Amino acid sequence: MKPPSQAISQMPRSGIRAIMELAAQQTDVMHLEVGQPNFDTPSHVIEAAARAASDGFTKYTANRGIPSVRETMARKISERNGFDVGIDQVVVTTGAVNALLQALMVVCDPRDVVLISDPAWPNYEMMARVINTPILRFRLIPELGFLPDLGELERLCRDTPRAKVIIINSPGNPTGGVFDRATIEGLLEIAARHDLYIVSDECYEDIVFEGEHISPASLDNSGRVISVFSVSKSYAMTGWRIGYVAAAPELASLISKLQEAVTACASSVAQKAAEAAIGGDQACVDDMRNSYRRRRDTAVRMLNESDLLLGSPHGAFYVMADTSSTGLDGYELCRRLIVESGVAVAPGETFGPAGAGMVRISLATDENDLEEGIRRLSTSIQAWS
Ligand SMILES: Cc1ncc(COP(=O)(O)O)c(C=O)c1O
Repeated sequence: MKPPSQAISQMPRSGIRAIMELAAQQTDVMHLEVGQPNFDTPSHVIEAAARAASDGFTKYTANRGIPSVRETMARKISERNGFDVGIDQVVVTTGAVNALLQALMVVCDPRDVVLISDPAWPNYEMMARVINTPILRFRLIPELGFLPDLGELERLCRDTPRAKVIIINSPGNPTGGVFDRATIEGLLEIAARHDLYIVSDECYEDIVFEGEHISPASLDNSGRVISVFSVSKSYAMTGWRIGYVAAAPELASLISKLQEAVTACASSVAQKAAEAAIGGDQACVDDMRNSYRRRRDTAVRMLNESDLLLGSPHGAFYVMADTSSTGLDGYELCRRLIVESGVAVAPGETFGPAGAGMVRISLATDENDLEEGIRRLSTSIQAWS
């Protein structure tokens, strides 16, 4: 038989999923590996979804999504993200995952080059593999709160004629870095100088502890920025699978056309749930952010006491811990942490070469488990150093 697709066969797995599966086989494990909010979806959102199902929102929708849902999203983008889009510039997708992949698909041809940060969420590299586009990585600098090395990015863009798109992610996974205005302006200047698209993954936009979330599209109306949003993290709605993308009209139309081939449309009931979440009372978002802030403070204090802290995250819900003193490969370290110490964290290497010697701790878990997990992690790292 002819072999299946090389691109998919050779695509790396997400190391986070691999650790989740290993951790699931064992009892008494503190789960600090996954970026899944431990909150319930707010009840007004669940009620809106139930109402929508009874009201007949049970059929295919337009590829772009239900008009009233896109209207709510466009209003939110104007009021909270600071740029104006018409409703046909908004496409509702099956999570940010789908929005990101489709954004890359509509701007790239095979062998165009996608620039991603090091470290970065592993799915960006997987997506690039799916569409046969090589990746190049630019460094995030831990000492500067994981801001990008703009000098290195400029050199990479200058030396890479097929560079096509830069993916940026602020607040960032796995680093918790929040890009300031000057950094975003610098990124936009590089993109303009080399005529590149920017895909801006803003799925943690509501989880900022210090500084502010700045949408790159609010500083650039050239049409080169494709903004990707999600309800997953802001409203504890990971399983509902709703993201949305805002882009220049021609790009939004291409994404909408592509959506017919990929998923046809996002789930109708989940779209109505997202409408209630985005258009409704935002107190739930504040409550969750405050809770993540308390957990961040606890994690930072504990890691600092054990000398494992690599900087305090300003957003998202992750902290990086320094495990370099063990000299162990990250995957081996994480396997031992599960089996011998009963704590699951994500190996730094799954986020790129710069992640070596680090592990990612997720704060999206119960506070007692977080404290116990960090205690187990610290004790083990000290014993194995
Ligand atoms: C940086 C980043 N982007 C996108 C996503 C996926 O979001 P969604 O659930 O909307 O597909 C995640 C989920 O962990 C993420 O960390």
